[in-house]
Amino acid sequence: MNRTILITGGAGFIGSHVVRLFVNKYSNYNIINLDKLTYAGNLANLKDVEDKPNYKFIKEDICDFDAILKIFRQHAIDGVIHLAAESHVDRSIKDPFTFAKTNVIGTLSLLQASKQCWEDNFDEKLFYHISTDEVYGALKFDNTLFTEQTKYDPHSPYSASKASSDHFVRAFHDTYGLPVIITNCSNNYGPYQFPEKLIPLFINNIRRKKPLPVYGKGENVRDWLFVEDHARAIDIIFHRGKTGDTYNIGGFNEWSNIDLIKVIIKTVDRLLCNKEGESDDLITYVTDRAGHDLRYAIDSTKLKEELGWEPSLQFEEGIEKTVRWYLDNQKWMDDVTSGEYEKYYTTMYRDR
Ligand code: NAD
Ligand code: DAU
Repeated sequence: MNRTILITGGAGFIGSHVVRLFVNKYSNYNIINLDKLTYAGNLANLKDVEDKPNYKFIKEDICDFDAILKIFRQHAIDGVIHLAAESHVDRSIKDPFTFAKTNVIGTLSLLQASKQCWEDNFDEKLFYHISTDEVYGALKFDNTLFTEQTKYDPHSPYSASKASSDHFVRAFHDTYGLPVIITNCSNNYGPYQFPEKLIPLFINNIRRKKPLPVYGKGENVRDWLFVEDHARAIDIIFHRGKTGDTYNIGGFNEWSNIDLIKVIIKTVDRLLCNKEGESDDLITYVTDRAGHDLRYAIDSTKLKEELGWEPSLQFEEGIEKTVRWYLDNQKWMDDVTSGEYEKYYTTMYRDR
């Protein structure tokens, strides 16, 4: 079946992996990557697919409802995979308004455009909203996991804005019958992640022999999933998930920050042929993040039992692959940290 799918936030970390997967796997789909290119959007993430005939990039802000409606009509969009968001917790603490605007109003604008364009016939249409495990709040140090039934309890402005967007998505399903699916995923890692997030930031700082700022005691726990496994889950759920449902996606792979940081240090030192333990002294304990959630851990049993998805990579393999990628792609990292990447759009896309 031919389809035209709008992927929002496709120039970001996870979005670029989803765009790449869909463009390469489904030559009968038109994939439109709509992205505002904020600081987190980088078209260099998609260099390998930018000339494919089934790929198109549109620079637009999801909050601009009139522009979004026009794009829906012009391109006869029949599926949306919505990833565009402000995604970094520390930024949300400094600037909550931007998070409310992009994550709530932006999502609402996409929902409203979908409803207006599809309401005569919802058959074969789908609004797939990508959310986070952070909406569930924080777990204690015990064996509990977030399930699809866990009550929402967001703590940061970021997670509050994502929770709010999830509620709007469900409201559009319950009120107007819009076909929707929501997934809540745990922490992703892998190539092309913006180096404000723990793993790429620390890999780069070790390479440059800069301090590694560990928040609080480094005891907080996250459940890490390789980004390509997330993209594969999105593909399966987009095609076979049950409309109106929620699926949790996670790695069954919990690490305290400090243990994870030690693995990163060891791997980077080994791959750079540094002396064992050479970078241990870079660890610097700093003031904790305000409202820092203690532990996240996802139960993705529903996704495994209903749709057969499970993580494909062992963490040791995934982290080795990730560290190697950042060390082999120093130009990508240096362009991002110097701001050079922001010129890419102007030179590559101005005349298209
Ligand atoms: P990211 O910050 O790397 O990328 C976000 C993208 O959205 C960027 O390309 C940015 O330019 C674009 N964008 C931001 N505001 C926009 C706007 N107003 N209009 C159009 N585009 C805009 O984020 P990510 O880490 O790839 O996360 C993608 C999605 O997945 C987010 O919705 C996030 O909440 C969710 N998520 C992320 C993780 C994770 O570990 N990174 C885990 C679970 C869920
Ligand atoms: O759980 C899913 C979420 O994972 C996504 O929804 C978010 O978009 C994504 O950013 C991520 O949120 P976290 O806050 O967990 O990720 P971050 O990489 O910022 O931090 C991971 C952990 O490491 C967290 O406990 C805070 C800590 N940390 C982070 C940084 C950047 C440090 O100790 N030092 C740091 O410098």
